[in-house]
Amino acid sequence: MERLDFQGFGGIHIAGTAFGSPDNPSVLLLPSHGQTREFWYGSAAALAEAGRYAICVDLRGHGDSAPSPDGQYGLGAYIGDLRTILAALPNRAVVVTAGLGALIAMATVGEGAPDLVSGLALVDANIWVEQAVAAHMGRALASRAMEFDDPSQIIDAIAAAYPSEPRPVTDRIMAAYARRDDGRFYWRGDPKALASGSLPEFETRLTAAAARLVCPVTLIRGSLNATVSSAVTEKLQALIKGAEIAEIEGAGHYATSDREDDFNAILLDFLERKAPRQALAFIEGSEPRVLRDALGCFATGVTVVTTINEAGEPLGLTANSFTSVSLDPPLILFALARKSANLAAFEKAGRFAVNVLHIGQQPVGGRFASRDVARFDGVDWAVRGEGGSPILAGSLASFDCRTHAIHDGGDHLIFVGHVDHAWFEPHRDPLLYFRGKFRRLHFA
Ligand SMILES: Cc1cc2nc3c(=O)[nH]c(=O)nc-3n(C[C@H](O)[C@H](O)[C@H](O)COP(=O)(O)O)c2cc1C
Repeated sequence: MERLDFQGFGGIHIAGTAFGSPDNPSVLLLPSHGQTREFWYGSAAALAEAGRYAICVDLRGHGDSAPSPDGQYGLGAYIGDLRTILAALPNRAVVVTAGLGALIAMATVGEGAPDLVSGLALVDANIWVEQAVAAHMGRALASRAMEFDDPSQIIDAIAAAYPSEPRPVTDRIMAAYARRDDGRFYWRGDPKALASGSLPEFETRLTAAAARLVCPVTLIRGSLNATVSSAVTEKLQALIKGAEIAEIEGAGHYATSDREDDFNAILLDFLERKAPRQALAFIEGSEPRVLRDALGCFATGVTVVTTINEAGEPLGLTANSFTSVSLDPPLILFALARKSANLAAFEKAGRFAVNVLHIGQQPVGGRFASRDVARFDGVDWAVRGEGGSPILAGSLASFDCRTHAIHDGGDHLIFVGHVDHAWFEPHRDPLLYFRGKFRRLHFA
């Protein structure tokens, strides 16, 4: 997470925070009216983990960004800011935004800057807000600038504005408030920025801008959103060439934070399809190389399977062919190469253990796949269960098994084990194997 500073229209300061590497494709996350950039931090972190450069900014007059010098918060000033921010990013961004931000983004891109972005994910976008609804939303927004005794009052105020929707989750919204020395909570921004309501006067302008969009667009809404109906979303979809719609079931205005995992899944799916990190290359064939590479696309954990030979010595090898098979009876399997130096010992022993490696055990994974090393030297292990097979100390999980069956598996034998006892550690992360390399969860 890195603090960034941008210059908005007229040189005003716009505060930002970036997640991930600037070498990756940019995604700009723009908050809605009244919200601050922290609102998007959960999604930004998920985007960075998925190999994107995610930048969150505060709108002018909001959070840590400077207020408008003239106290005006018209669409033009916001558009000016967005243009300069987009131009300062290392590559063409996809803009992810909600509410007022969606209107700003549509206007910015539709009114003559189609090349500035490579896609738009617009949450709760509505350009046909009825006058009465606009007035209601304006009042709801203005009420946010009041002072509050405690966070629940803030959530009460928002929940009261949208009575038919689920009550929003506290912590993300609370980022827009700071606690003063007197213990009261106040909104972090220029109260004038909240007074500009929902800008319904721009209907004509935004209708024209939406019709001019040419980039990939997805329109996202919570299915219970009371002010952005599915009919309005479909009307907007009809205006924008090729636009998609995605709904988050059971969510209202705060779908992106209340149902962050669902929202992130929709967003990542859209990005992978419409703004892939690299040009997609679908490779096919029947030759062994293609098969190996295709199989390497299946990410696995890493285990060390162990047993004891007739001389009482521990044996083992690294294996990622481990799979759970049955719960009742408890069965698991792994596949052992017929050419393995350990094949006969595993066949004779009638028992084995599977040790699932954690993130810190990569050296163990490497060691048990190497020839010409004493694999157990310096490795802390013990027989811990009745099965009598070596259990590696500190493993993420271990399964002590009796051999249940051995099946033919081409150039491998499939060892099915009956699990007598299992151990696991619930906090650590697993070591992974993907495309021929050890990996961590959340690799970029
Ligand atoms: C990540 C990884 C996964 C592996 N999975 C298996 C496996 O499932 N079955 C297998 O027989 N060998 C597997 N191997 C290869 C063995 O660990 C390696 O060939 C080892 O040298 C075999 O030793 P051995 O001949 O002493 O049994 C894997 C190797 C690595 C690095």
